[in-house]
Amino acid sequence: MSTTYTLDTSTSRAHPTPAPMKRMTVPQIQARKGKDPIVMLTAYTARMAQLLDRHCDMLLVGDSLGQVIYGLPSTLPVTLDMMIAHGAAVVRGSYHSVVVVDMPFGSYEASPEDAFRAASRVLAETGAAAVKLEGGEAMAPTVNFLSSRGIPVVGHIGLTPQAVNALGGYGARGRTNAEHAKIISDARAIADAGAFSMVVEGVLEPLAQAVTAEVSCPVIGIGASAQCDGQVLVIDDMLGMFERTARFVKRYDDLATRIDEAATRYAEEVRTRTFPGFEQTYQPKD
Ligand code: KIV
Repeated sequence: MSTTYTLDTSTSRAHPTPAPMKRMTVPQIQARKGKDPIVMLTAYTARMAQLLDRHCDMLLVGDSLGQVIYGLPSTLPVTLDMMIAHGAAVVRGSYHSVVVVDMPFGSYEASPEDAFRAASRVLAETGAAAVKLEGGEAMAPTVNFLSSRGIPVVGHIGLTPQAVNALGGYGARGRTNAEHAKIISDARAIADAGAFSMVVEGVLEPLAQAVTAEVSCPVIGIGASAQCDGQVLVIDDMLGMFERTARFVKRYDDLATRIDEAATRYAEEVRTRTFPGFEQTYQPKD
């Protein structure tokens, strides 16, 4: 099957689709609790969404795009407009996965009403099915406000990168009894508030397993445990685009090296005038 699609801008869907396919739904994801593991990856562009879509159940337009795409020092400077632009691109490039867009720092914490205004823009302007927001018990009223008004919410607990200043870094969470208990009560609060799924990031494995057993919605792990209901990774990390990554990242390729080698060959051919060759140039017709 060719993976080279062109974007059909009249339908905002990848065209041609490899097979008629209906997009997965939030209730279908919810029903996967304790069943087949949910496959989730981040995507930030239409082309990457096209390539990943058939392999995934959910595509996450993560605010990790701040670091991955924009070279920012953390996720904190990411704006709602950035999330909406990339969210719309990922929806245009996919036809199967549930697309979830991260709520950026500052767009949802102040009040449930603020969160609703921002999240409704995300759904209306991208076509995504759901939003993800970071935080535990303190965010439960907001999760409830959104989910009871038609905005499906994925929670995010444990290591929450938007709270890096409060947490003091990106180290694993749940090493003390107090932290362990807090993360369990965060999970319970977010699930009870109506999150249809939650990400648990960077926690000790037994804690990830306890969270998964504790709540009735699917728990997606990252730096957590294979026993979670699904897994997510940042696509550029798993493709080997960065030299340094967190311990929990498994590199499935070494794209940085392959890009370096391709660029080396290109530069060499430009400098020796061997590119463009006959095949890449237009010749007069006889
Ligand atoms: O922003 C992101 O990519 C995320 C994942 C790491 C879960 O939140």
